[in-house]
Amino acid sequence: MEKRYLLTVVAIFSFLIYSCGGASNQGDASNSPAAKVSGDAIYKKTCISCHQPNGEGLTNVYPPLAKSDFLNDKEKAIGQVIKGYTGELTVNGKKYNSSMPAQQLTDDEIASVLTYVYGNFGNSGGAVTADEVKAIRAKL
Ligand code: HEC
Repeated sequence: MEKRYLLTVVAIFSFLIYSCGGASNQGDASNSPAAKVSGDAIYKKTCISCHQPNGEGLTNVYPPLAKSDFLNDKEKAIGQVIKGYTGELTVNGKKYNSSMPAQQLTDDEIASVLTYVYGNFGNSGGAVTADEVKAIRAKL
């Protein structure tokens, strides 16, 4: 009788330990994606006011990111976001002469937002990594 009681106690303890472990593991798993802000969210917060929800920009003022041939040069596109640019540039054969401020974003954030841009708005796809951003930042 006493033995059975002991077994029950052990069983309850093991269950408690197991469920605590399980809970904290679940916490870790759901933390990691949340810690990394998605490119979608960064675009909506940072770029959308000028480049617009559909990435089409604004005629003669903000150039399009949608099907932009400027993006064919990945290094230039990364540099554009890190440093901004003021002066003349050409997108899809159309000249713009305006100013984009340097974006105060980390290498990770720039990688995420550009990967989002490359993967949407009719663009060619492909990923930009934080290492690529870091390498270009070091050159600028
Ligand atoms: C305040 C307005 C503004 C914001 C915010 C802004 N841009 Fe720009 N962006 C511009 C302008 C204006 C140009 C063209 C600059 C010029 O004419 O010299 C440009 C040019 C570009 C270009 C190169 C040309 C093209 O259309 O392909 C890229 C790429 C780009 N922006 C990406 C981004 C991304 C990504 C973000 C958000 C992280 C962003 N921009 C935020 C205004 C903005």
